[in-house]
Amino acid sequence: MSVKSKVRLGVNLDHVMTIRQARFTPYPDLKQAIELSEKAGADGITMHLREDRRHIQDDDVYLAKQVIQSSMNLEMAATDEMRDIALDVKPENCCIVPEHRQELTTEGGLDVVAHGARIKDITSALTEANIAVSLFIEPDHKVIDASAEAGAPVIELHTGTYASSVGDKQVQELKRIMNAVAHAASLGLVVNAGHGLHYENVAPIANIEHMFELNIGHSIVAYALFVGLETAVQEMRTKMCT
Ligand code: PXP
Repeated sequence: MSVKSKVRLGVNLDHVMTIRQARFTPYPDLKQAIELSEKAGADGITMHLREDRRHIQDDDVYLAKQVIQSSMNLEMAATDEMRDIALDVKPENCCIVPEHRQELTTEGGLDVVAHGARIKDITSALTEANIAVSLFIEPDHKVIDASAEAGAPVIELHTGTYASSVGDKQVQELKRIMNAVAHAASLGLVVNAGHGLHYENVAPIANIEHMFELNIGHSIVAYALFVGLETAVQEMRTKMCT
């Protein structure tokens, strides 16, 4: 039985596909991963089509759109190529992220202040196609204001610094995220968060007032190796409620 928390859980399946791409095998199967995640209570399925195609492939995105029953969140860089793919696939949600080729994972948030015009163009093209656009940003008031100005209805706050710090530094970062959520909510933005969240650090973020959705991938897929994907998703939901 799955536990329903008030905050939505978007399950990021990138690293299921990392295992497939390590050997270019037909397994593990994305369709099965989507179905098991949803059966376990995922409110949405997230995937990042990176420019270097290191895990999710173009065909995966089209297949996912057909299989997903909940809602699809496509993470992508602010490029013309990705915009055109998103307009063709029409996921319910798109999260615009910064992307650097050599990084292990998405490092830092989008610089919406410096690249406002570009982000505004992509946001308006996707919004016209009825796709809810979210901007993956640092918990910083200036960047939140710029995101609202760019016309994005949703932001996703980068929790990487919170996740990688300990002690007082982590408490300070939690406060910074809480202030950012309150500020964004006062502007009418929907607020999501993600990156580096795991079973032991998720609860304080899930308990922030006005938090709408958490997008979590690596820790769920890693735990699924031992307990299976359904249990890993269910246990994350349970932790989000504590
Ligand atoms: N949100 C965004 C925008 C991301 O880029 C990622 C990583 O792909 C995540 C959430 C999930 O991060 P993690 O895999 O560390 O849970």
